Amino acid sequence: MKEGVSQNFSMGWPLVKSLLWALLLFVQIHEHRACIEEERTGLLELKAFLKSHTNYTKPLLPTWVYETKGECCSWERINCSTTTGHVINLTLSNINEEQTSSYLKGTWFLNVSLLHPFKELRILDLSNNGISGWLGNEELVNLSNLEVLNLSGNRLNGSLPFKGKHSYHLF
Ligand SMILES: *[C@@H]1O[C@H](CO)[C@@H](O)[C@H](O)[C@H]1NC(C)=O
Ligand SMILES: *[C@@H]1O[C@H](CO)[C@@H](O)[C@H](O)[C@H]1NC(C)=O
Ligand SMILES: *[C@@H]1O[C@H](CO)[C@@H](O)[C@H](O)[C@H]1NC(C)=O
Ligand SMILES: *[C@@H]1O[C@H](CO)[C@@H](O)[C@H](O)[C@H]1NC(C)=O
Ligand SMILES: *[C@@H]1O[C@H](CO)[C@@H](O)[C@H](O)[C@H]1NC(C)=O
Ligand SMILES: *[C@@H]1O[C@H](CO)[C@@H](O)[C@H](O)[C@H]1NC(C)=O
Ligand SMILES: *[C@@H]1O[C@H](CO)[C@@H](O)[C@H](O)[C@H]1NC(C)=O
Repeated sequence: MKEGVSQNFSMGWPLVKSLLWALLLFVQIHEHRACIEEERTGLLELKAFLKSHTNYTKPLLPTWVYETKGECCSWERINCSTTTGHVINLTLSNINEEQTSSYLKGTWFLNVSLLHPFKELRILDLSNNGISGWLGNEELVNLSNLEVLNLSGNRLNGSLPFKGKHSYHLF
């Protein structure tokens, strides 16, 4: 009896070992995918700002919720780097009211200070929001990794509150 048990144990050991490795790997991948806390908080602040400054009629960014601590990379309109975990794609097009005839009547200013946490952004799409200008840009936002900046469908005058390599494509 005892021998059988120990034999089972020794046969099972490689399996247990590989399961442990799998678990370790999973935890590491999961850790890499986990959202940077400063950025998660920043996204929630951005959502709160957008909610109170735009006329969006549908629920705004419903997947951006406080409960999911350590998570934001799975939220809509976000992509994180698989290596650093930083948010690299923030696509906030069409988050103001629906495009109706009154679409361009409203005036609102985006507080760009709320973009300070996102230091590794490569894609920033703020298109089709009728943005009239910027708030809170006493200090320019440093987006040194920016590759694509889409500001079409806004009412901006060309002054940009971002500094960086200035090699990104502006739309
Ligand atoms: C980026 O995020 C969107 C929405 O969450 C998702 O559909 C898409 O597959 C992601 N892209 C990459 C490259 O991960
Ligand atoms: C950026 O995110 C938007 C919205 O999730 C998605 O449609 C787009 O494909 C993404 N771009 C890249 C290059 O991953
Ligand atoms: C929202 O609608 C109100 C009333 O029509 C308008 O005064 C305001 O400027 C609009 N805001 C935006 C962001 O379009
Ligand atoms: C910029 O935004 C507009 C409107 O959302 C879209 O049609 C266009 O494809 C975008 N361009 C790029 C390069 O993302
Ligand atoms: C453009 O708009 C910004 C505010 O968003 C303002 O500070 C600046 O003076 C404007 N520039 C021109 C040329 O109108
Ligand atoms: C813009 O956002 C920053 C960061 O949350 C805040 O400190 C500042 O008071 C805001 N400025 C305006 C004009 O709303
Ligand atoms: C902008 O940020 C990058 C890294 O995030 C840093 O290397 C660079 O010095 C910063 N540039 C300025 C002008 O602050």
